[in-house]
Amino acid sequence: MKDFIGIADHSPADLQAMLDLAVELKKEHQAGGNKPRLQGKTLAMVFQKPSLRTRVSFDMAMRHLGGDALYLSPAEIGLGQRESIADVARVLSGYVDAIMARVFDHAHVLQLAEWAGVPVINGLSDYNHPCQGMADALTIQEEFGALKGINVTYIGDGNNVAVSLMHICAKLGANFTIANPAGYAIVPGAVDLAKQFAAESGSALTFIEDPHAAVKNVDVIYTDTWTSMGQEEEARKREAVFPPYQVNPQLVSEASKRAIVLHCLPAHRGQEITDEVADGPHSRLFPQAHNRLHAQKAILVKLLG
Ligand code: CP
Ligand code: NVA
Repeated sequence: MKDFIGIADHSPADLQAMLDLAVELKKEHQAGGNKPRLQGKTLAMVFQKPSLRTRVSFDMAMRHLGGDALYLSPAEIGLGQRESIADVARVLSGYVDAIMARVFDHAHVLQLAEWAGVPVINGLSDYNHPCQGMADALTIQEEFGALKGINVTYIGDGNNVAVSLMHICAKLGANFTIANPAGYAIVPGAVDLAKQFAAESGSALTFIEDPHAAVKNVDVIYTDTWTSMGQEEEARKREAVFPPYQVNPQLVSEASKRAIVLHCLPAHRGQEITDEVADGPHSRLFPQAHNRLHAQKAILVKLLG
């Protein structure tokens, strides 16, 4: 495993091994601190978009493991503008031990991986968000013991976060449903891959438009912003389409009693999720955000350890 670009690239066994390592690293951290497994290793963090969780959790993950991280802001590198992606990849590979990149165009993180001599981690692209998917899976596993047979429903835009959630569910045997408005489905290529993974794991995939039918008796309700980074000019149009897809107390009451609510954050309270739900008894939003730290430590140790 050289890179971590998508959930789709990894076998169920490798993904489960990373989750198991995340559990171990979380326990170790909570018991007083991680062993310096990445002593002397450095991570360059290339950002074309803003971030709170990804930036801070990767930086802290490297420090906790005895390594170091370097933040490179959108203005500094000018990925593909000031300098070609192939050149950035080759230059950074001589300075650091791994590169984490958050990009607009998924092709750019693929190009970085192609040209870099060091591992490349996808910290979100317009196509997927695999580090988020790993933290989501860790959160579901902590709640229910495993993903196998758990019913997970995503409500809203078929975006990058939905792709990685669908793929980790299909790989690890959770049943995945998405309810999205017409015209906002997950891209067909990602769905085709999920169907292959689901056929192997026995997971069921459901694609519908009715959010109420989608949450009936489910264990996990997941939502994300209606307008992702890079789509800002569509925000008003989307705000007119998505209100029936709000995760509010009524919708949550239609799920299983044991249901948990997840959101990758940042949340747009009053739009895709209400305060009552985000701060209510079903919410696992903050443990989920904190699990980014532990899931990413596992990815870093697998790539660099
Ligand atoms: N969920 C997530 O990736 O958050 P940031 O955009 O703050 O990194
Ligand atoms: N779908 C969101 C996720 C943010 C972490 C976006 O791409 O903006």
